[in-house]
Amino acid sequence: MSNKPVICVAIDGPAASGKSTVARGAAKKLNFNYVDSGSFYRGLTWKCLRDGIEISNHEAVLALLATAQWDLSLCDGQVVYSIDGDQPGEQLKSKPVQERVSEIAAIPEVRAFIVEKLRETAMFGSLVMEGRDIGTVVFPDTPHKFYLDADPEERARRRFKELEKSGAYDDAQQVLTSLQKRDQKDSTRKTAPLQIALGAKVIDSTSMDAAAVIELVIKQVTSAQP
Ligand code: C5P
Repeated sequence: MSNKPVICVAIDGPAASGKSTVARGAAKKLNFNYVDSGSFYRGLTWKCLRDGIEISNHEAVLALLATAQWDLSLCDGQVVYSIDGDQPGEQLKSKPVQERVSEIAAIPEVRAFIVEKLRETAMFGSLVMEGRDIGTVVFPDTPHKFYLDADPEERARRRFKELEKSGAYDDAQQVLTSLQKRDQKDSTRKTAPLQIALGAKVIDSTSMDAAAVIELVIKQVTSAQP
């Protein structure tokens, strides 16, 4: 274990604002680990749906959370997890998970549990973590905070392109409706709503390509290091 201080780079923003591409790319260039915090909320959603737990029954969700065994590990520079030995993988992007995840993520006890798990990922070393509350709640003391945004139409276009092959959505308009519903839930919930963290650098990526945004993040992080 090295004595180097662990650096946490927080990238927050609404759905499909390009966080994954940017966080993954920046992590690779910085030689940091990448953490997709949304995958943790999606994982719990997937587990509930698979085990037949009704998500609106918060007691049942919390009972599952109390017994499920989460294990963290590092795989190709990304911190991943298993729940009771299962790694849900591609199923995390399925429509049923997509449509219910914000409901799970609004439960305060779920958030408290997942925030702790996310903080544990720093045991593997410096990281770039993307999500909704990384700069506000998970690592509020980090000096490296970014808020990534883009026009909703552009975000829907990008996400539709990504999901087109899966056949989950007919067109970008359907994706836009789904994103807007999720953004609305994520930014109006009582616990840890999506908001711009104090001191975060806001980047509007509507007319920027991912490489340019990654460069901006790298420049900012490396110039702030002693
Ligand atoms: O980032 P992603 O789209 O995978 O996130 C899925 C959902 O998980 C979000 O819509 C939000 O409800 C929840 N989430 C959250 N806090 C985070 C990351 C994701 O509430 N830090």
